[in-house]
Amino acid sequence: MASRLLLVVPLLFLFLFCHTSSARVSVKVTKLMVEKICGLAKNPSFCLEVLTSDPRTGYADLDQLRGVCINLAMVNVTDTEKQINLMLKRSSKERLRSSLTKCAADYSNAIEQLREAIDFLGARDYDSVRDRASLVISVTMSCELSFRTPPPISSPLTQNTKNAVGLADIISAACTFRP
Ligand SMILES: *[C@@H]1O[C@H](CO)[C@@H](O)[C@H](O)[C@H]1NC(C)=O
Repeated sequence: MASRLLLVVPLLFLFLFCHTSSARVSVKVTKLMVEKICGLAKNPSFCLEVLTSDPRTGYADLDQLRGVCINLAMVNVTDTEKQINLMLKRSSKERLRSSLTKCAADYSNAIEQLREAIDFLGARDYDSVRDRASLVISVTMSCELSFRTPPPISSPLTQNTKNAVGLADIISAACTFRP
């Protein structure tokens, strides 16, 4: 019995120690960190505008900021999906409807990728978060491109896709950044 205890106690210590050492280090995001993150983005000034205008940035640690980035993209893409479905209800133009139908699926896919990104952030699997952000970029760009397939028509979603791509790129930058 005693010998078994001798084995268990060090194991318990090891467990507690490993558990503590892998706990989240909660360092508040500084202005300099935001600048460094945005320096990694394709459009640093857009990134700075987005992150500095969100009140949560001032209180967040790094993982929380990454969460804020995913949340901003999620809100944006969800709003666009709603807009697309509204346009589909209002339009009977066949050519427009065919692209909008594709875009509804693309944006719904983007929402799914962002949901997965939230889970991967929880697991601190930043590479997978970045992969999901890349997928958000490719599916929303694929929506935009569908308006150019012959016969091309002008896209009502150009700005939405720019926003989605820009916001997904900020997620990517925030996950590339290492303090
Ligand atoms: C989507 O993102 C753009 C760019 O940051 C912003 O101007 C717009 O207000 C956002 N829309 C929503 C619904 O979050």
